[in-house]
Amino acid sequence: MTTPNRMILLGAPGAGKGTVAKGLVDHLKVTHLSTGDMLRAAVAAGTEVGLHAKTFMDRGALVPDDVMVALIAERVSQDDCKSEDGTVRFLLDGFPRTLPQADALDDRGLGPDAVIHLDVANEVVVGRLTGRRSCPGCGAPYHVEFKQPKVAGICDICDTALVHRADDREEPIRKRLATYSAQTSPLVERYSAELITIDGDNAPSAVLNAVLERVSAGSAG
Ligand code: AP5
Repeated sequence: MTTPNRMILLGAPGAGKGTVAKGLVDHLKVTHLSTGDMLRAAVAAGTEVGLHAKTFMDRGALVPDDVMVALIAERVSQDDCKSEDGTVRFLLDGFPRTLPQADALDDRGLGPDAVIHLDVANEVVVGRLTGRRSCPGCGAPYHVEFKQPKVAGICDICDTALVHRADDREEPIRKRLATYSAQTSPLVERYSAELITIDGDNAPSAVLNAVLERVSAGSAG
């Protein structure tokens, strides 16, 4: 199966990007780069970048473009983002989120081969995010109703205690949705040639299967 080398997951907060990414990593053996997970790791480690980013994240605002571009530029240069012949290969989740971030990828010759757009209505994602519980260890998402861990409150994958993210409360969720609409949704048009739109309001396994089918067929639209 031939699959794209550089893929982007695009979608509103709670559209299911992280959930689909876990499945794509298993099936396509690609390195998953979640900027949200990278930032939360920096916050937990108390780095300068993390402390700066936290002031934006907790209120549902975007971290400044220069910070994000530097973070991703460094990360995609690492060996796990290269295939054996040296081709750059990655699955971006949460980047780009603005037109200048998309420009920064293009400037480095790293524009995407496929952009997977998960389409889900706002009221659906509010329900998903208020019920989400996240693993601070490996980033795996759970849900109090739709995806419960085998042992209550503990990650199935790495045994870490699950948390309720500070930005997964109603007020920051509404702010994140407004930010997505104003600053990120223009990327849908920007990437019209590479866009694969998937109805994200289905069971997680159905969403993953639809993504795999479209990605392996190489069909934009
Ligand atoms: P980030 O962590 O990227 O947050 P997000 O985009 O808001 O996305 P989420 O992680 O909330 O949702 P998701 O789409 O991954 O959904 P998930 O699969 O978990 O970013 C956090 C913050 O960091 C940003 O607000 C910003 O401040 C900053 N940041 C990050 N990148 C940045 C950038 N490039 N520029 C500037 N700032 C940046 O699913 C959600 C829930 O629903 C889970 O509970 C899951 O179990 C459940 N679920 C998933 N799929 C389904 C389904 N099909 N049916 C039912 N339930 C489902």
